[in-house]
Amino acid sequence: MTAFTTETPARTTSVGTAHTRIEGRDKVTGAARYAAEVPFTGLTHGWLVLSTVARGRISAMDTQAVLALPGVLAVLDHRNAPRVTTDYTGMMGMRPDPTCAVFQHDRVPHLGWPVALVVAETSEQAREAAESLVVHYEQEPHDIGFTGERPDACTLDGHAPAVTEKGDVAAQLAVSAAVVDAEYTTPAEHHNPLEPHAATARWDAGRLEVIDSNQGVAWVAGELANLFSLDPCSVRVRSEHVGGGFGCKGVRVHQVAAVMAATLLHRPVRVALTRRQMFSLAGYRSPTSQRVRLGADADGRLRALEHRSVSLTSTVYDFVEASAGVARVMYDADAHHTANRVVRLDVPTPTWMRAPGKAPGSFALEAALDELAEKCGLDPVELRLRNEPERGPVSGLPFAGRGLTACFREGVHRFGWADRDPRPGIRRDGRWLLGTGTAAASFGAGAAPSTAAATAHADGTFTVRISAADIGTGARTALTLVAADALRVPPEHVQVRIGDSDFGPAMIAGRSMGTRSWAWAITAAAGELRERLAGGTGIPDEGITVRSDTSAAIEALTSAERHSFGAQFAEVAVDVATGEVRVRRMLGIFAAGRIVNPLTARNQLRGGMIWGISMALHEEAVRDRASGGPVGADLAGYHMATHADVPHIEADWIDDHNAEDPVGVKGIGEIGVVGAAAAIANAVWHATGARHRHLPIRPDRVLTAGRAATLGGQSTAHPHMSR
Ligand code: MOS
Repeated sequence: MTAFTTETPARTTSVGTAHTRIEGRDKVTGAARYAAEVPFTGLTHGWLVLSTVARGRISAMDTQAVLALPGVLAVLDHRNAPRVTTDYTGMMGMRPDPTCAVFQHDRVPHLGWPVALVVAETSEQAREAAESLVVHYEQEPHDIGFTGERPDACTLDGHAPAVTEKGDVAAQLAVSAAVVDAEYTTPAEHHNPLEPHAATARWDAGRLEVIDSNQGVAWVAGELANLFSLDPCSVRVRSEHVGGGFGCKGVRVHQVAAVMAATLLHRPVRVALTRRQMFSLAGYRSPTSQRVRLGADADGRLRALEHRSVSLTSTVYDFVEASAGVARVMYDADAHHTANRVVRLDVPTPTWMRAPGKAPGSFALEAALDELAEKCGLDPVELRLRNEPERGPVSGLPFAGRGLTACFREGVHRFGWADRDPRPGIRRDGRWLLGTGTAAASFGAGAAPSTAAATAHADGTFTVRISAADIGTGARTALTLVAADALRVPPEHVQVRIGDSDFGPAMIAGRSMGTRSWAWAITAAAGELRERLAGGTGIPDEGITVRSDTSAAIEALTSAERHSFGAQFAEVAVDVATGEVRVRRMLGIFAAGRIVNPLTARNQLRGGMIWGISMALHEEAVRDRASGGPVGADLAGYHMATHADVPHIEADWIDDHNAEDPVGVKGIGEIGVVGAAAAIANAVWHATGARHRHLPIRPDRVLTAGRAATLGGQSTAHPHMSR
């Protein structure tokens, strides 16, 4: 027993100071192991076989020939795979996407659907055998044609109502001095984290152990327990390092297939997705078609706001890209309508992708605001400031802090917006036309119940355990700073362990709620531990451990609109002769609570803004109507912003301290992308005079719009003109 010294230093302030990543050296030297790199004795390798038709059923499969190939151990398909159930509601309050329940029937709902898993001694043998497996299909006609005009678009109520309606939009539009009525479209987009999905499953003394790359070990463990009808205590999922997530790393086919094979073979089985397979199996962002109608008085005050969005989903699971949700937070109007509709098609199920709904929704709404500002002859920043709502436009709840005005004030000053000439198409720099644009951003700042354990060791150090995930965000480092402050010791005295479902339930790294939720649980455990130690208790060799659970505290929170806010600014240069658009600089100012680690926080915000550049100018997943499959399903065919496309980007924040908030920390993982594409599109209008309502703003669209403008036609790029 060692006596605990109560003479701990006065409250240290690790939170708010820049710290490099704790595991940074391990990552750059290769010492950090990712899910597909952890060695196992007797490891086997599974390779997925994906359907080559978009709709139909499997009629035959020549598995015998494949089983005779070198090293092949098994072929799993719908005839011999273990049964799973999808009849449950998981930790995130949702039923599972049956897409993850592989090999349960002979139906094929989209091209790239897993029809078999070939398991072999080596990865190469598994691949060779998988690629030679002949599968016969009864093919049926498929429908992948997405448009916003489809009559079969329907509403689905999930977490949020599909439709909100207040007042009479038509009546308010009729008496408005300025009206905008426009369609905006965004294409399907893929997340594609650097590290592809990979899982190794094995049974060890009656427990299922899965080494995986995911955004929440407790979540994935719970889903696997439910799917395979296992006692939750008998499933352990670990995910030490994750090379990117962005919403696509939940429970997916690779874990399920690996568990099935490990169960049948009684050996460890690894299943890793290839980059190409990820285009069918990792989820993606649905394309959207959005109609925004705005009506305002001459002074810019909104009378009518209607935001309707159509997205797509698969025929097997209802996922809604709820783009119209942005308007429910951002702006109020006498008549305020929002609606999210979906079309079910023969395509893979879309999923959460960084700022779900908010990223495409903010493009449409914030571009429409810019058009309204033009019509009202108002500065776009001023228009937004005049429409700051007192309360949630739909909820009627007060805002627990709304820092948007302060973000714009700071941004206007820092960006040099004040002396901007509002006229479009008049600034030149050689062959380039120059323009600037702005947009507002918001993202929810909720918290979800989490548990944590804090242990005081006899040597004066501490260990904190929480099943958090560091998907490259720097969460491990941020939580160490939070824990250090809560324990009132320097960060070097605290070891934070994450990524192990045995640490108990905790929020996932998602919905920008991870750090806020985990910080709350860690602070609670640390506070109670300090109280225990303050009694002067000796610390036994096994240490003293205190556990926390924030369920009750979160339940007791008063209802309010909790969000982060931001103001985005962009400057672009456009060459209307080649159609090239270059972003020259961007500035984002955010109100996002207490910033835990300025170094990694800036990186998160800038990363989101870079996604905005990519969304505005590059990304567009294309599906072939004839086959129903993805075109150019790799990182050469799928264009995205690369280093040369990314200019000087500044991300900063204002003081967003709320004394009444129990944590103070909000999320910053997603807000950086919100509004960023709109700011760029608005800047392209300011440069050229052409409105681009269809993303991405490709060179051919810039050329088409440029020609239309010079011919005196409608200066708007049309989505289908150039395809
Ligand atoms: Mo985020 S799209 O909730 O990982």
